[in-house]
Amino acid sequence: AATIRIAPSILSADAARLGEQVAEAERAGADRIHVDVMDGHFVPNLTFGPGIVKWLRPVTRLPLEVHLMVERPDDVLDAFSEAGADTLIVHVERSIHLNRTVQRIKGLGKRAGVAINPATPAVMIEEILPDLDLVLAMTVNPGFGGQSFLRGTLPKIRKLRSMIDAIGSPIDLEVDGGIDPETTPEVVAAGARVLVAGTSIYGSREGVAAAIRSLEQAAA
Ligand code: DX5
Ligand code: ZN
Repeated sequence: AATIRIAPSILSADAARLGEQVAEAERAGADRIHVDVMDGHFVPNLTFGPGIVKWLRPVTRLPLEVHLMVERPDDVLDAFSEAGADTLIVHVERSIHLNRTVQRIKGLGKRAGVAINPATPAVMIEEILPDLDLVLAMTVNPGFGGQSFLRGTLPKIRKLRSMIDAIGSPIDLEVDGGIDPETTPEVVAAGARVLVAGTSIYGSREGVAAAIRSLEQAAA
């Protein structure tokens, strides 16, 4: 079976003890930490700025990936880069000059990711795909944790998988939204290899470590 990596989303973590919550995920074998940045314009919610990345950087060895759900991603790349992000993910829907933006991210020495909303067709990223390190297929409409997985995104995940396989370079295919032990087998079968999970990890009654194990088992 393919290796499945887990990216806990701190959106659903207990912010009053964020360092601990990240450390728990690290000890349990998480691959990276997913930081959801929302500006109240691109999505109807407000979350983290670069300060949180700067603060988290020294408390974990895990890579920090920043999912930019903002109206003007180009304006904040430098700030999140300086703060210590390892991967910068911009939305295809908000990047008119996506090639320029991706080259800028790489110029900052960071991994470049592009996120794609449920209603946006895979073909929108066909030409930029060879330049990417990561594709983030949204499996909910971005803006909030705890939403239900949109099963209609599965054909697109399969399409993205075959586009990536055709290129033959190791581009992460990551899914985000409503991922839990029930939906994991479906997204993995469709070709996802990195699973973002907020509620199913940080909202779990069994605790962070057990929740990560449950996701790994569901993926196996
Ligand atoms: C949604 C965010 C997600 C969110 C996922 O807009 O991009 O990363 O944290 O949360 P769950 O896992 O609860 O659906
Ligand atoms: Zn996200």
